Amino acid sequence: MTSDDLQFPQDGEVSRTALDEALQAEFRQRILETTDWQRFTLARHRRGRGAGRESLRPLMIRDAVCWQLERVDAGRTTVSNIATITELTEALERLLQETGPREYHLQSTSGDLHVRVTRKGRTLVARGQAQTGAAPVAPPPHDRVKRQPLTQFDATALLRITGIGDAHGGIRASMRGKYDQINAFLRELETALPDKPSERPLEIVDCGSGLAYLTLAATIYLQQVHGLDVRVHGIDRNATLVGKANALARDLDLADKVTFIAADLADCTLDVRPDLLLSLHACDAATDLALARGVEWGAATMLVAPCCQHDLQRQLRDSGPMRALLRHNILRERQADLLTDAFRAQLLRMLGYRVRIVEFVAPEATARNLLLRATAGLARGQGMVVEEYLALRDFWRVTPILEELLAPRLGTYLGTPAASGAEHARGTANGRE
Ligand SMILES: C[S@@+](CC[C@H](N)C(=O)[O-])C[C@H]1O[C@@H](n2cnc3c(N)ncnc32)[C@H](O)[C@@H]1O
Repeated sequence: MTSDDLQFPQDGEVSRTALDEALQAEFRQRILETTDWQRFTLARHRRGRGAGRESLRPLMIRDAVCWQLERVDAGRTTVSNIATITELTEALERLLQETGPREYHLQSTSGDLHVRVTRKGRTLVARGQAQTGAAPVAPPPHDRVKRQPLTQFDATALLRITGIGDAHGGIRASMRGKYDQINAFLRELETALPDKPSERPLEIVDCGSGLAYLTLAATIYLQQVHGLDVRVHGIDRNATLVGKANALARDLDLADKVTFIAADLADCTLDVRPDLLLSLHACDAATDLALARGVEWGAATMLVAPCCQHDLQRQLRDSGPMRALLRHNILRERQADLLTDAFRAQLLRMLGYRVRIVEFVAPEATARNLLLRATAGLARGQGMVVEEYLALRDFWRVTPILEELLAPRLGTYLGTPAASGAEHARGTANGRE
């Protein structure tokens, strides 16, 4: 684009507010009838009210072209997908009929087009050169190249509004670990999806959902990359975070799919049976609460990455041969971590879950990089599983919180009283946190 490209129509040749008819027609033709444009943006210049911006861009999702409308207003970003040319036409018309001082920018390989309507109603037009020899640009191929889950769909808005990404589409250095964790968790999630398509939505619950990074990423990923209808429930006891998470869901146009609930996992209820229970770094005993609720709610699969855990650290006795090991705080911490996860896995096996423990992400992304993957379907109370559990527990002379939380269900196998288990365990878990 050069200054020679600028035209300055005389006042009176164009309407003071509406966009020139010929320019409107050109935008319509280039956006609705060609495939060589990448983005169309309307930027408003509103005195005292901040700048509002809306952009349309084509996307390729599951081999179909669709479009995304992104709105940025007073610092808030919302996105919605447009599936049909009729909806695209409506959205475009709305932008073209805008009034007031504003700019339109069309980015296209056949030549950019920039239009500015000034406060006094003058229209300034600037045109870029066509990119000679450039092949028509296909929309970003979201699922043609299998890479990281977060690169298989347009995650720009998600990453920006959750603060993982910056304004230029990059990943913030301080959030790189979280970005890697989410990608890795989504890879695990992908392999846990049911083989057969279901007629009802997939029910997912995220325990200790915090600021909803995983919850929202999983929702969009499963919808856009796997074409699944999902209902997602995020649970967190921090009401402030829950309020923010619900606002993010609204901004991403996901409020009908994702609901965040302010509740303590110790006593919260769920009115659906989850197909998938997720939990990423729910603090300390909240991981045990998530697993206990998962068993209670009949979760088919649980993917749980534990966080810090202090309960067994306090219970381990550094007497006898263990003194040399446990007198070092870091070794005590790691020993307690290993035991806690071993007990969790064994208790879930006892209740009919097949359990694997994997390193789901590289340790550079987080030191808390283990993931328990539990899938229902085995026989409960198998003798060898019970024996192994009791042997380990009695050797270390400890009582894991999860055993207490699941006491009513384990009573038959461990011979513990069934009646008081849940009440006692909830109180204990809360007290110990
Ligand atoms: C470390 S954050 C992780 C958040 C999120 N999963 C992530 O990975 O970004 C742990 C979250 O667990 C929540 N939490 C801890 N104990 C809880 C409990 N008993 N019930 C519900 N939420 C709990 C905290 O409020 C916090 O938001």
